[in-house]
This record gives sequence, structure tokens and C-alpha cells, in this order.
Amino acid sequence: MSSNNIHPIFDRLLQREDREKRLGQKSKVLWLTGLSGSGKSTIAQALERRLYNEGFFPQVLDGDNIRVGINNNLGFSIEDRTENIRRIAEVSKLYLNSGLVVVNSFISPTEKIRAFAKNIIGEENFIEIYINAPLEVCEARDVKGLYQKARAGQIKGFTGIDSPYEAPKAPAVEIKTDEMTIDEAVEKIYTFILPIIKLGQ
Ligand code: ADX
Repeated sequence: MSSNNIHPIFDRLLQREDREKRLGQKSKVLWLTGLSGSGKSTIAQALERRLYNEGFFPQVLDGDNIRVGINNNLGFSIEDRTENIRRIAEVSKLYLNSGLVVVNSFISPTEKIRAFAKNIIGEENFIEIYINAPLEVCEARDVKGLYQKARAGQIKGFTGIDSPYEAPKAPAVEIKTDEMTIDEAVEKIYTFILPIIKLGQ
């Protein structure tokens, strides 16, 4: 087929850089991984608020919210978790192109699943943050009562109980939530990402 009828409009499309400039930030995906109950969502929300207060334009994507919406047809088999993460990574990519600082909060339990997400999002855009709390601590907190149900056999394939969680080997930031407050955790992440998301003069 002749390419004469093709009229690319790329040069007329707004670029990611244009949006970043308008928003005064460099867009990145902050990928929080950790066990259920480790504190991912709490930290993601507090971090989002902090970024917003500092003049940035952040957006949280969270497991529990995504799973009642766009991913409400997915369960917790490894295939479904992979599809869950694939869609989230694709949505993150759209947000990246919109110039946002995306804060993702998903168990994303295996090295392979996180590598998959990183590959879709692009290594240069992906910042892995390990929200680390020992299983005993998460289980003692049991905010949603799910560990109790998993131990009782009422939930099968629960991460950390009868489904694996592989800790990241080289996260950009590690937060031990049993050793620091939420404010301290947010401060540690914010201090790390500030030079990365700040737009140069
Ligand atoms: S992921 O493994 O696919 O990344 P995601 O972060 O979206 O998981 O969802 C995890 C949340 O789903 C948990 O915080 C918990 O509330 C709920 N959940 C329900 N069943 C399970 C299960 N079998 N394993 C882990 N979390 C579960």
C-alpha cells in the first residue's frame, strides 16, 4: 500500500515534555510493593498529599480501588495478578504521558511481575519502593481481617500465607514500617524522589 495517504501528526501532538512543563514536574511512576497490611496504601495516600502540598501533581493507583473498578473481573491466581499488574502498568504509562507523578500501591508479589511492570513503564520511569514489614507484623495488624480468614482456610492463595511474596533485591528505597512512623516514611521517600521529579530551571 502506498504511504502517500498517511499523514503523521506527531509533530502537532502535545508531548509529555509540554505537559511536564505546564505541571512543573518530571513524571515518574513510584511503585510501592509489599505484603497486604505492610502500609502501602497509607503511605501512598500520605505521600500523595505531601506531593500535592509541595506543589506537585500526583495520582495514586491502589489495589483495592482498581480491583473494584477496571480490574473487577480478576482474582488472585498468578495469571490474574499478572493481568492486574499489566493493566495497571498500561494505565500508569498513560498517566506518565500526561505528566503526572504516579504513586502505585500493589502487592505485586514476584520479581517477574515487577519486571513485567517495569518493562511496560520503562526502566527510566520506574522507581521501586519496598514497603517492608515482617509477615508477623502484618498478620498482627490484620487491618482487614484477611490473614485470619487465610489461616482459617477461608481465603486460598493469600500472599505470604499460601502464595509467595518475593522481596525486591535492589529497591530504590526501602521503608521498614515497623521501625518508623508514616511521617518518617513519607519524608524518606519524598527526600529521595524530590531531585528526580523536580524540573530543572
Ligand atoms: S496483586 O498481588 O495483584 O498485586 P493487589 O495489590 O492488586 O494484589 O490486591 C491486594 C489486596 O487484595 C490485598 O490488600 C487484600 O485486601 C485483597 N486480597 C484479597 N484476596 C487476596 C489474596 N488471595 N492475596 C492477596 N491479597 C488479597
